[in-house]
This record gives sequence, C-alpha cells and structure tokens, in this order.
Amino acid sequence: MCDRILFLYMKILGIETSCDETALAIVEADGGLSHPHFKVISEAINSQTKIHEKYGGVYPMMAKREHSKNLVPLLKDLLKGFQLEKPRDLKIENEEEIKKILERETELLQQFLEVIPTIPKPDIDVIAVTVGPGLEPALWVGVNFARALGLVWDLLVLPINHMEGHILSVLLDQSQPVTFPALALLISGGHTELVLMRDWQQYEILGRTRDDAVGEAFDKVARMLELPYPGGPEISKLAEKARTSERSNHQITKLPRPMLNSPDYDFSFSGLKTAVLYRIREMSQAEKLLPFWKEELAQEFEDAVTEVLIYKTKKAIEEFNIKTLIVGGGVIANSHLRQEFQKLIKEGGETKLLTPQPSLSTDNAVMIAMAGYFKSLNDHKPVLDFRATGNLSLQQDSL
Ligand code: KG4
Ligand code: ZN
Repeated sequence: MCDRILFLYMKILGIETSCDETALAIVEADGGLSHPHFKVISEAINSQTKIHEKYGGVYPMMAKREHSKNLVPLLKDLLKGFQLEKPRDLKIENEEEIKKILERETELLQQFLEVIPTIPKPDIDVIAVTVGPGLEPALWVGVNFARALGLVWDLLVLPINHMEGHILSVLLDQSQPVTFPALALLISGGHTELVLMRDWQQYEILGRTRDDAVGEAFDKVARMLELPYPGGPEISKLAEKARTSERSNHQITKLPRPMLNSPDYDFSFSGLKTAVLYRIREMSQAEKLLPFWKEELAQEFEDAVTEVLIYKTKKAIEEFNIKTLIVGGGVIANSHLRQEFQKLIKEGGETKLLTPQPSLSTDNAVMIAMAGYFKSLNDHKPVLDFRATGNLSLQQDSL
C-alpha cells in the first residue's frame, strides 16, 4: 500500500543555464509542502568545463553561445523515451512572437523553428527556469528559451532562484523530513551564504562572504598550484593524499582562519587565498622540489576553509536552535567537508543534516524543477514578462 499522500501531483520541466552547465530535467512531484516527494523522469545535461578549462574560468559570452547551441539538442535527448502527446497541429502559430523572444539568440532561434514543430508537446504541467543569480548573458538564454517553449506549448513559466534550487536539491530521495527552524549553508563557485529558514520559502540571510566565494577560492588556489579548472576537486584529491600520508611532521606553516571570531555570520576568503600566494612566493627552490609541498598546502587550505565554515555554522545552530541543517552547492561535493559536517551533527545531538546526492551538488536542472514545484504550490500570479537577474538574492522574490 502506498503510504504517501498523493496530492498536488505535477510534472515540471526544469531549465538551468546560470553558469557553465546547460541542463534540462523533467521531475514528477507530489505530496505538497507537508510531504514533498520527487522522482526524476528524465535528465539531460551538457557541461562546458572542457571548453572553459583552458582559460581557467568561465567566460560569460562563451557560456551564452554554448547554451544557445545546446538547448534544442538537449531537449530532444530529454524527451527520448518520454511519453509524448499525440502529434497535434505542429505548426508554430506564434512564429513572429517567438522570433522576437529569441532575437538575440540567432542559433537557438534557428534550431527552435526547425526542431520544435517536430516535437509533440510532452505531458508536463509547468516550466521552471533559473532567472538568477548567475552570469546574466547565460541566464538570458535559458529564460528566453523557457518563454518561447511556454508560448508554443501553452504552459506557465515560473522564474526560479538558483540558490533556492541548491537548498531544495537535498529533498530528492530524502526519507527525513525538514523540520524548522532550518539553516542552509550554501557553498558554490559564486556564493557563500548562511540562510535561516523558519518555514518553506522564507529566507533570512544571516551572513555571506564579503569577497570571494568558497568555490572561487578553491579554484583560484588551484590555479596557483597549476592544477586544472575547476580546482575544487583537484585540491581535494591532493589534500586527501596529505591526510593519508605516513609523514608525521608536515612542513607547511598554518594559514589564517579568516573572520573566525568576528561577531557576525560573514565570511572572507580573499585574504586566505592571498596568504597561499605569499606562502608560495616565500618558498625556496629546495622546498618546491619536495614532492609533497602542494599536497600539504592543499590540505592546510582545505582545513582552514573547513574550520571557518564549521565554526560559524555551529554558532548559528546554537543561536537559532536549528532542527535541520542543509548544506548545498558545488563545494559540498568535497568529501572532507562532508565528513566534518557529519561529525558536527553527531556531536550536536538533535539537529539533522541533509546534503544533496553527489550528482545534485553541482549545477543541475532537477533542483530547478523541484523549486518550481514549491513555487507552484504558492499562490502566485502568472508572470508574463520576467527577466534574468545576475545578482538575484534569496531575500528578493524572484519576480
Ligand atoms: O554549485 P556549483 O556547481 O556552481 C555554482 O553555482 O557556482 O559550484 C561549483 C564550485 C566550483 O568552484 C568547484 O571548484 C567547487 O564547486 N567544487 C568543489 C568540489 N567539487 C566542486 N570544491 C571543493 N571540493 C570539491 N570536491
Ligand atoms: Zn550553483
């Protein structure tokens, strides 16, 4: 017997183009706010990492061009094997309007007009698209694609905050419910934020980074160590080697733990990154010949970041009597950090920890579809003319 409450059933198409992943997903959702339950029906993702790798970072206009090229082929992939409604009149009626919506995405427009009429409308109820935060030119491609699809398929399009997606990503295949107050630590390439949630969709930002985001610091330090982009996983691998090595006395001097004792919940990682740079400059040639200096520096850097994140999170858990801790965003793919958060929760007693499955910790469209479900449960007016907003905050309604 099914013990879930089957109500507010919905199928959502999620679209994500905020950075260097072009991602689409169809997610089935039910259970409402009290028992939200999600199942991924289909997913298609194209990572541009290889393209941006040689430049050591993401170029917004290049990301935009790639999204523009990839969205229609990805949609075809996504719908393979998906039950489609019987072909109806597949002529695009609103061609002039579509041309206007996609006027800045010439390649996308051309593919759209060629391919979309050959795809019957899939059985979905709503489209959810990331409108920010992220790289604005990249976001616009997804937004305009969603608007054009919404028009052709006569579906409502919901604007989604990417960071809300990272928070809700922990709900996939989750047996533990979220109890409030909850605290979300969001750590990605563009963000480091501690967010208090007294209920679903109520976000109060307690603190954020004053300069570099955690993932950005990982990427920059990796570049200093001449490691490939994205640097987070590379630093993590080196740090793990140092941690499991037999050597007992490590050579690297301690790095600072920035803002550890500041009275607020803010962070700063730019000074830490500079400290790594100075440390490398000070090193003698003899030191640089030691095979393990990069490993030890990576470990010390990872330890410094981890200590600050854990300390401030612990302080917020205590102050706000937090019942659920959510840690989301690309950096939670880091296994040392995950372990340290698990330890913190074990010591703390009552609070439970929710983290996303590894495939959902980095950018994806499943989490955007999930956020779309929550948004559609809220009373909302249809949004007709929404825009991409690069610096969209969680405290701002996404329009
Ligand atoms: O959430 P995400 O995929 O994209 C943004 O919205 O920014 O996060 C990407 C960031 C990159 O900076 C990457 O280096 C970092 O997550 N990252 C990691 C690890 N895997 C990805 N950082 C540390 N350790 C990892 N294992
Ligand atoms: Zn992200």
